[in-house]
Amino acid sequence: MTFDLKQIVRPKIYNLEAYHCARDDFTEGVLLDANENAHGPTQHDVPKDAHLHRYPDPHQVEFKTAMAKYRNTTSAFKDRDLATLTNENLCLGVGSDESIDAIIRACCVPAKEKILVLPPTYSMYSVCANINDIEVVECPLIYEDNSFQLNSDKVLDILKNDPLIKLVFITSPGNPTGVKIETKRIEKVLQNWDNGLVVVDEAYIDFCGGSLAPLVTQYQNLIVLQTLSKSFGLAGIRLGMTYASKQLAKILNAMKAPYNISCLAATYALKAVQDDNLQLMEKNAQLINSEQQRLLKALTALEYVDDQYVGGLDANFIMIRINKGDNHLAKKLYFHLATEAGVVVRFRGTELGCTGCLRITVGTKEENDKLIKEFKRLLVELTVN
Ligand SMILES: Cc1ncc(COP(=O)(O)O)c(C=O)c1O
Repeated sequence: MTFDLKQIVRPKIYNLEAYHCARDDFTEGVLLDANENAHGPTQHDVPKDAHLHRYPDPHQVEFKTAMAKYRNTTSAFKDRDLATLTNENLCLGVGSDESIDAIIRACCVPAKEKILVLPPTYSMYSVCANINDIEVVECPLIYEDNSFQLNSDKVLDILKNDPLIKLVFITSPGNPTGVKIETKRIEKVLQNWDNGLVVVDEAYIDFCGGSLAPLVTQYQNLIVLQTLSKSFGLAGIRLGMTYASKQLAKILNAMKAPYNISCLAATYALKAVQDDNLQLMEKNAQLINSEQQRLLKALTALEYVDDQYVGGLDANFIMIRINKGDNHLAKKLYFHLATEAGVVVRFRGTELGCTGCLRITVGTKEENDKLIKEFKRLLVELTVN
């Protein structure tokens, strides 16, 4: 393996001089260097100490350091002799969605190079690829046995036969599958392919643990994506984390808009990584896991719902199959749940290996109670002749 980042990142981006912003030079004093408005906002309800008349910090070192520390202390790879993650292994984005787009733009030449995705999977990879005029190649997960695992050999076969593929997007735990991909399968790809980057999207990782983030210090060709939108309950602030080798993180940081993380997002993000809030996040994840079991038990006991759920339980949702794959009934149920009961779930019946499936996010206890009650009622109503 002779991984060379220079061969992977587009030359203009590899050599990019980062935008040098006013706040890079001085952060204190009478700040008259960034054309801000010192009078501040006109609204009286904006707290003075929010400093919203100032541009945000482009680097967010404190947040990144705390996040790196959390991933080090909770690492599943303590038996390996790895360098510790630091703030220099991180780049922040406006949600993972921005990070996905940035990685595609950094590595793939439009109208020429490609990405590989593993359906059924999160659709933003393909959306971003299309926007950037990048072709999408597919290698399905192993869906026939309901494992929804990665077929490493097939993936490597495709990669070795198509040098234009620069990125592989692996969702772990998967969406909509809820399956955490086995580490050994991902490592097999990492160890046998040096022509691009393996991007592991861990949006749901805190619901099962075992993040691969610490491995970016071992594998130069690994990127790990995480977000504050799921386990941290902060989807509204839009903040995603990219973990990569220091060399690659530096390039991604040079490439991002300097002020992409707003002052408000940064304030709440920093609170989220304080020790007591991290403990609360873990506690909430456990609560969601136990509610997930309850929801599953209640729904799979119903007539017209298959006993065996689809995929895994490694994320904060379940996927159940209606009447052995009855898309018509599943869709009808989805629609009536939303319009008559005000309970909105996701119809996933057109995804590979998910015929007749509904994906249901685990809510609060009260929300789950309402879902179970309305689900039962509507399923009976829709199935009486
Ligand atoms: C696998 C996966 N990645 C990323 C995201 C989006 O994350 P963010 O809110 O950080 O953009 C989602 C959201 O549903 C997701 O399912």
